[in-house]
Amino acid sequence: MQIDVISIFPEYLDPLRHALLGRAIEQGTLQVRVHNLRQWATGVHQAVDSAPCGGGPGMVMKPDVWGPALDDVAQAHGPAAHADVWRSSLPHQRQQRHDQRQGYIPSGYDRPRDCTETEDPSLPLLLVPTPAGIPFTQAQAQTWSTESHIVFACGRYEGIDQRVFSDAQKRYRVREVSIGDYVLIGGEVATLVITEAIVRLIPGVLGNHQSHENDSFSDGLLEGPSFTKPRQWRGLDVPEILFSGNHANIDRWRRDQALLRTMQRRPDLLSTIELSPEDRRCLELGHSPVDDSHQPRG
Ligand code: ADE
Repeated sequence: MQIDVISIFPEYLDPLRHALLGRAIEQGTLQVRVHNLRQWATGVHQAVDSAPCGGGPGMVMKPDVWGPALDDVAQAHGPAAHADVWRSSLPHQRQQRHDQRQGYIPSGYDRPRDCTETEDPSLPLLLVPTPAGIPFTQAQAQTWSTESHIVFACGRYEGIDQRVFSDAQKRYRVREVSIGDYVLIGGEVATLVITEAIVRLIPGVLGNHQSHENDSFSDGLLEGPSFTKPRQWRGLDVPEILFSGNHANIDRWRRDQALLRTMQRRPDLLSTIELSPEDRRCLELGHSPVDDSHQPRG
């Protein structure tokens, strides 16, 4: 996957070099290029923004700067052709992790491309982070993890002149996306969030392919609690059932914990998934029926 980011604060994107994303870059799974928007600004002041038409507070980013930037990045032309392709700088990331030693076979996602009937599926995807966008979800992260070229346009101030996106539809599939109902100063942090959510789903990036199959939201539920050794810590025990060796019961218990947590923290999600009779029984009881700790002790 190739990711291009256009921003007036390119250093904001430095975290993309680290940890999992850095490793994906080193593996050659991910290519990142970060472009400074000011390369496309003209005039003595290299202004990238201007007062909003019709008045009002703040500044709007100029179409005559964004337009050429998006044209060049789509065609790897002009200043965009000379951008550095990032290499991670952290040598320890080359070490093999424990979950990579188990003979992992990457598998792809069987998801349709994010493309409307009027769009050309071979065009790159242009993601524009904005609080006014459609909500970014795990389902989108999964769909977009199969893209070959994603470009992020990071706006600042009161946003980017809307004509930029009408025009960009000739060269991109354009999506304006929000990472939540709050307002950030610009699109850079949202770009980091969206990139991490997408890249960790590219087959081979996470190491252990199972580790994202149990993610929160991947089955419409929040993920339940996790435990590791020691079995007792500060007077707190790991739930007994996890040592029972009965994997059917353990799977049921985990599903029940996910259901109970979702009911408590995100009840809105429960109405969007299909519940089995076992799921309903757990939610009615308020605990997992396979959990012995809820049986009366005699
Ligand atoms: N830019 C500013 N706020 C944002 C948000 N909530 N999501 C995406 N991009 C943004």
